[in-house]
Amino acid sequence: MPNILGPDTAYYPTYFDKTAQKDLRNVLAVGLKTAPFFTPHMPRTGQPWSIAMSNCGALGWVSDKTGYRYQPRHPETDAPWPPIPDALIGLWDNVTNYHAPPEACLINYYDKPRSKMGLHQDRDEQALEVPVVSLSLGDSAVFRMGVTNTKKRTRSMKLHSGDVFVFGGAARLNFHGVDRLMFGSSQLLKGHPAFAAGGRINVTLRRVTKP
Ligand code: SIN
Ligand code: MN
Repeated sequence: MPNILGPDTAYYPTYFDKTAQKDLRNVLAVGLKTAPFFTPHMPRTGQPWSIAMSNCGALGWVSDKTGYRYQPRHPETDAPWPPIPDALIGLWDNVTNYHAPPEACLINYYDKPRSKMGLHQDRDEQALEVPVVSLSLGDSAVFRMGVTNTKKRTRSMKLHSGDVFVFGGAARLNFHGVDRLMFGSSQLLKGHPAFAAGGRINVTLRRVTKP
């Protein structure tokens, strides 16, 4: 697979075709009934993020005034997160070849034209030797990633519905974020009541603990 954003990154354009994207949208919507989207807040300042979040899997990633962390329960309902859909476990096995399953599946919902995500590192996991697997559904977005693990030099590329992006090894701690959305560029989410605002979903699969 092409390493568009540098060594140890892999881009799989349209990994999931239209039918598979709809199936995934539908199965994620089922999980969201028991684990509804919540608005994360920035540590310390308490500033709300411009996106909504939920999770599936044994551990969910949350951000609030007290900090970033993984936890086994939804911050508002206190229910355990729903299981990670089989199609996403299959994706993980296929693109990571890692011998243990993902524990966390973060669902970021870019539900507003202004939704974006600042440059950050994924570093709340103990298992930093395991890649991060990211799937985009719905509207296209401009994704940005550092060439190394500093913010100094970055490159960007568009991620479209069904695309998968993987970063591990030397790229595992590279800064990355979403500059902007092409809001309204896809009909995938708009067609479903769980995502009435349309927009974009990004799903990230991660191994948190060392097996
Ligand atoms: C993330 O880094 O959590 C999300 C990246 C994306 O939305 O593509
Ligand atoms: Mn990230």
